[in-house]
Amino acid sequence: MECIEVEGGASLRGTVQLSGSKNASLPMLCAALLAQGDHVFRSVPRLRDIASTLKLLRHLGCRSEVVQSTQSDVINLSVGDVLGAEAPYELVCEMRASVLVLGPLLARLGRAKVSLPGGCAIGTRPIDQHLKGLEALGARVQLHHGYVDCEAPGGRLRGGDVCFDMVTVTGTENLLAAATLAEGRTRLLNAAREPEVVALATMLKAMGARISGEGTSEIVIEGVEALQAASYEVPPDRIEAGTYMVAAALTGGDLTLEDAPLAQLEALTSALRKAGAAVEALGPSRCRVTRSGPLRPVSLTTAPYPEFATDMQAQWMVLMTQARGESTISERIFENRFMHVPELGRLGAQLSVDGDTATVTGPTPLEGAVVTATDLRASACLVLAGLVAHGVTRIRRVYHLDRGYDDLVGKLNGVGARLRRVRE
Ligand code: EPZ
Repeated sequence: MECIEVEGGASLRGTVQLSGSKNASLPMLCAALLAQGDHVFRSVPRLRDIASTLKLLRHLGCRSEVVQSTQSDVINLSVGDVLGAEAPYELVCEMRASVLVLGPLLARLGRAKVSLPGGCAIGTRPIDQHLKGLEALGARVQLHHGYVDCEAPGGRLRGGDVCFDMVTVTGTENLLAAATLAEGRTRLLNAAREPEVVALATMLKAMGARISGEGTSEIVIEGVEALQAASYEVPPDRIEAGTYMVAAALTGGDLTLEDAPLAQLEALTSALRKAGAAVEALGPSRCRVTRSGPLRPVSLTTAPYPEFATDMQAQWMVLMTQARGESTISERIFENRFMHVPELGRLGAQLSVDGDTATVTGPTPLEGAVVTATDLRASACLVLAGLVAHGVTRIRRVYHLDRGYDDLVGKLNGVGARLRRVRE
């Protein structure tokens, strides 16, 4: 099994080129199923989750070609007129986001059979809202033998109102995609406002979809008969950007980030400035993060966009272990997203958890140790902790990291960190 060893003590200095967004790429690739033809995706990040998605799309009858360029990949995806309608368990359980083929397949073929994704480390993560939404568009949904079996009577969904009980990002994305080919008007109410939803809507409009309101909590879609393949640009990854911003503040460094979507990071930027870091905008997608003085404790609560992102919670916790005083971090999106707490405790962090709130007492000197990654963002937080721990930190199960960070080791070593991959 592969591990990453981090030698602590470096302060990061230099420039990091960020990659395309994982959480925008995945729904965009799946939405290509809506239209026969040759789709082109630019600025696609080099991630395990992208490879898993392409494997599933090929299983469904698509052909994919990855053209590697210096910083990112171009993916040519050919979607045929004959599509399989079943996403099997062995592919879906590799990656929960595979559920994002459900809406496009059902809209395109009038039927879809997708394995239930199953839970994951951070929570049960049901898809009841996805299914409730598809039923509101006329789908007949059956659950049996671990699969969701959907059918659109007469082969076509019909427009309607979908009101989500809670904000769900992939739920909004599945319904947004499905509604583009439904007959009539669909309104998505209490829709997710995340930039990744906007990126998907931008792609769908390039394919000929009629969408308004994306980025707000009410999205309106006028269904059309058919969509056409086109070319798309994957936007930068705001969570990758946020992770490096925290790394600069944590190590007292000086990082310039290229392609950082600063306008999407206002909650993080505000918290970093309160904590004593300087975040300087050098343009709409370029920023510089430095920290010279002591870190101050800043308490926060995760919430749907544009509030503080749950995907940045673990990284923020590491930063707060070095702040002078006590802070609290409340995780209100997922019910079990504190698995990194005991691992940080092994490094010497002073943390306690009471329900959905973790209390951090700092500053505490961290000591290198062997730790185990449990999920994608927890593994990123352990790498960050290793950067400021005394000695060497060995992080196990780093396949989690490779799912969502494009060349994290290379990018960090490029600005002065000392990381290496080793086999256990
Ligand atoms: C997306 O997951 C992201 N993944 C997650 O990023 C991110 O943490 C999450 O949104 C929240 O921002 C992708 O976009 C591929 P949700 P998603 O549906 O869509 C509950 C990462 O690290 N819920 O917005 O699965 C759910 O259990 C990953 O990059 C239901 O109860 O999250 C959760 O508590 C991790 N029923 C809350 O809603 C449903 O039908 C928000 O989940 C759907 C969701």
